Amino acid sequence: MCGIVGYVGERAALPILLSSLRRIEYRGYDSCGILVQDNARGEVHLYKGLKSISDLIQNLDVAQFPGTIGIAHTRWATHGVPSERNAHPHLDCNEEIAVVHNGIIENFRSLREGILHNCLFHSETDTEVIPHLIEKTLVNLRREKPHTYTGDEELLMAVMREALPCLKGSYAIIVAVKGFDGLIAARRESPLIIGVGDRENFIASDVPAVLEQTNRVIYLEEGDIALVKKDQIYIENMDGGEEVRRGASLISWTIEDAEKGGYEHFMLKEIHEEPKAIINTLREYLTETGIELGIRAELMDKGKGTGSGTGAGTGTGAGTASPSLLMVACGTSFYAAQCGKYIIEHLSGIPVHVELASEFNYSDFVLAPDDVTVIGITQSGETADTLMALKKAKRFGCHTVAITNVLGSSATRIADETIYIRAGPEIGVAATKSFIAQLAILYLLGLHLGRARISEHEFMEWIEELKRMPQVAQMVLDDTEAVARRYATYLAGFENVFFVGRGVNLPVAFEGALKLKEISYIHAEGYAAGELKHGPFALLTPDTPVVAILSRDNVYEKTLGNIKEMKSRDAPVLALAVEGDEEVGKYVDGVIYVPDTEPILSPIPNTVALHLLAYWTARARGCEIDKPRNLAKSVTVE
Ligand code: F6R
Repeated sequence: MCGIVGYVGERAALPILLSSLRRIEYRGYDSCGILVQDNARGEVHLYKGLKSISDLIQNLDVAQFPGTIGIAHTRWATHGVPSERNAHPHLDCNEEIAVVHNGIIENFRSLREGILHNCLFHSETDTEVIPHLIEKTLVNLRREKPHTYTGDEELLMAVMREALPCLKGSYAIIVAVKGFDGLIAARRESPLIIGVGDRENFIASDVPAVLEQTNRVIYLEEGDIALVKKDQIYIENMDGGEEVRRGASLISWTIEDAEKGGYEHFMLKEIHEEPKAIINTLREYLTETGIELGIRAELMDKGKGTGSGTGAGTGTGAGTASPSLLMVACGTSFYAAQCGKYIIEHLSGIPVHVELASEFNYSDFVLAPDDVTVIGITQSGETADTLMALKKAKRFGCHTVAITNVLGSSATRIADETIYIRAGPEIGVAATKSFIAQLAILYLLGLHLGRARISEHEFMEWIEELKRMPQVAQMVLDDTEAVARRYATYLAGFENVFFVGRGVNLPVAFEGALKLKEISYIHAEGYAAGELKHGPFALLTPDTPVVAILSRDNVYEKTLGNIKEMKSRDAPVLALAVEGDEEVGKYVDGVIYVPDTEPILSPIPNTVALHLLAYWTARARGCEIDKPRNLAKSVTVE
């Protein structure tokens, strides 16, 4: 989605901004723009491009312009079509104030028609109200209080303090003012960081944008306004209007961590990092005696006195149902949450309710704060729907926990507590290793919550089995990739594919289908294996293959029965089965074998295999893979 960067220092800003923009290209964008300011010569240069950053670079003579202050933007259109006119930075009427913005200004129409009705707007964007609003406030303050402010800095901070509360919605902004030797940044509900350098500073929406320059980063908090000069960072918060101190964190991951490491695509690299993502996540929370998730003990109490069983449904019913745990998430994270329901209910007996965040936000669902903990699962920690859901849960007074991959992300600031997955930076738009790491956390959570109801011996056996999972994932990568690749070449010739599974592997089927459709553009549907006969059978033909997940669980025979029914409708069936399962081979057209595990842990090997299948299918079709059309890495709008 949109990304913003800013630079203020002694070096030429243009090449730094260009390389920073390239670091956040992975977020997805449809246009981009840069403004560079040379105060010594009193010049401002503005460049905008409709296509890629590379195109923008080609049209620029990077050496030609030595300005040392600048701001830049990658845009993913929300208000106004992708066009040069709508690309940021946007300027005020006098072209002295320039703004790049990430987020959405919800009241931009009323501002345009109200207090800014005299301004000349050049774009259809919500963002353009910001420079006009700043200009108007600046003019007013200069007129009304001409002698109050001792310098530009004081005046500009006063302007921001007065202007920003007029904006409704979400924003991370960087403001450049002609002639001023610094930048102003502010955030509300959108992430923003300051990269701390030596006689230079950087501002960005994402850490990777500044990592090439510095690994010292200040995370701005909700409501922060920062004045950033080459040798000064001053931050105050809108709430108190007082200076606030924010320490710098040292970022331990390197740019190499965020680059492809020899793989053709980030996605393939990240699938190959799935064993490491499980290891790192388990390592973080496994102690010699058990599991230490670092969350409040009350969450564990929810397990006490609750009978076993799977009482909670997965619907979106209104009413006053009070499950002990409610999980909210979107997309792949939602499928992880659905797996989590099976996992936690199996391991702890605690009922778990799962909701799509976007549905939960506008449902009549009433939560009882004393009975329910709400867990938001979000890789990026920035998904607008999931953040809203966490806020809604807080409004009910519920205890909230974020499960996320991104340190300092908005979810961590909203939720009462955070459990980090340790997947490392995920650059491919399609989530892979983060899903596996989310599963790892959900197993830990299930065991953590279930500890009181199983013997110590049983608990330790589960832990040992869980510790084997990185190895199991590695075995799939080592032994199955070639087979998956062969079947991928076969699947690549179809336009419709079903993925079916049952129990904990039903959400895995959803995940397999989502991954295939988003990167290969093949229409794929995940379905409960027992449900196809209730309608979708009508679609089964020799041109509609089915990928069927078959685990050695209590529904093995039933799933095998479902597979036979599909075969008799002439659909080609490719099974994902456990090594040693000779039986299934008699009924299907092909089998991808994965290592045997406890059935509840089978999503680990099955997911690795399905991620490989999706990747190699997309590759066989020559798709772009890391940046699928119309998609962006983090979805920061509702
Ligand atoms: C699919 C995918 C998306 C995300 C979804 C939620 O491969 O990546 O479906 O899972 O947009 O994102 P997070 O987990 O960042 O909240």
